[in-house]
Amino acid sequence: MKTIPLLEPLAAELEQVERKLLEPTHPDYPQLTAVLESLLLSGGKRLRPALVLLAGSFYPTDREKLVSLAASVEMLHTATLVHDDLIDGALVRRGRTTLNARWNAGATVLAGDYLFARAAALAAATGNVRVMTIFAETLMTICGGELRQIFDRRELPRLDDEQAWQSALDRYDQRIYAKTASLFAAATEAAAVLSQAPEAHVVALREYGRLLGTGFQIMDDVLDFQGDEQVLGKPVGSDLREGIVTLPVLYFLREHPDDERIASVVRDGGQDAVVQEVVTAVRESGAVARAMDRAREFIAQSQAALAVLPEGQARDLMHALADYTIARDR
Ligand code: IPE
Ligand code: IPE
Ligand code: MG
Ligand code: MG
Repeated sequence: MKTIPLLEPLAAELEQVERKLLEPTHPDYPQLTAVLESLLLSGGKRLRPALVLLAGSFYPTDREKLVSLAASVEMLHTATLVHDDLIDGALVRRGRTTLNARWNAGATVLAGDYLFARAAALAAATGNVRVMTIFAETLMTICGGELRQIFDRRELPRLDDEQAWQSALDRYDQRIYAKTASLFAAATEAAAVLSQAPEAHVVALREYGRLLGTGFQIMDDVLDFQGDEQVLGKPVGSDLREGIVTLPVLYFLREHPDDERIASVVRDGGQDAVVQEVVTAVRESGAVARAMDRAREFIAQSQAALAVLPEGQARDLMHALADYTIARDR
C-alpha cells in the first residue's frame, strides 16, 4: 500500500479497503480481471477512502460497513478515471498506460461501467438507503460535470467586464464541484450518515468534503501547469491541449485579454511547441500563484467547517489532510 505518510494511522483499515477492492468477482473473464487488478493496484493516493474512514470515526460505527463504503467510493473514483481518460485521450495515468491506450473505446466504456456497478454493489453492502441515494445522486452529478466539460471544450470565455468574469468563474466552480468536489462531499457525508452522526455534523462533514474537493481540483489544475510528469504519473499541459479552460487560464486571460496564442490554442489546439510555449507563459505569469491562493482559501474554509466536530485524532488528521491537498506534488 502506497498511501501518503500522513495517513499512516489508517494503514490497517486502508489495507482492509484494499482487500475489498480486489475481491474477485467474475473469474470467468480473466482479461477483465487482470486489467481491473492492474488498475486498482496502480498506486492511487486513496484520499477518498481515507476521508470515509475519518469522517466515520466521530461516533461508534460498524467498521465493516464503513470499509465497504470506503471501497465503494474508491471504486467509483476509479471508474470515473477510466471514462475520464478515454474522454481526455490520456494515455498515461499513475505512471502506467491507460485502458483506452490498449482497448477500443467500446470496451473501455464497458470496463468503466463494470466498475461503476461494482461500486454500487459495495455501497449497497452498507444496507443504508440514504447512503445509496447519495451514491446515485453523486454519480449523476459527476456525469453532468464531465458532460459540461465536453460541451465547454474549445470555448473561449468572454471576460470583458466584471459580470462576464463572475459568470465564467461561476461556471468553472460548478464544473469542478460536479466532476470532483461532489465525490469528496459524498464520501464524508455518507460516512457521517452511516455513523448516525447528528444532522449538524453530517452537514459540517459534507461541507468539509465539498470545500476540500474544490481546493483539490484547483490544485490538480495548477499541477497540470507546473507539475513534474514523472512524479504526477500523468501528462502535464493536457488541459490546454484539450481546450479545457481551467482557473490558471481564466486568470491569465483576464490579465492578457488580447493574447492571440492562448486564444488559438484553446480554440484549435495546435502544434506541441506552441502549446508548450503557452503553458510556459501561463506558468510564468502570476496566474498560477493566483489560482493557488484561491485553492488555499477553500482549504482554510474546509478546515473552518471542522470546528463544530468533536476534537480528537480524526479531526486533526482531516485538518492536516486539507493542508496536504495544496502542498502535494502528485
Ligand atoms: C485524480 O484524482 C482525478 C481528479 C479528480 C483530479 P487523484 O489525484 O486523487 O487520483 P489518484 O487516485 O491519487 O490517482
Ligand atoms: C478528473 O478531472 C475528474 C474526474 C475523474 C471525474 P481531470 O481530468 O482534471 O483529472 P486528471 O487530471 O485527468 O487526473
Ligand atoms: Mg483527465
Ligand atoms: Mg487534471
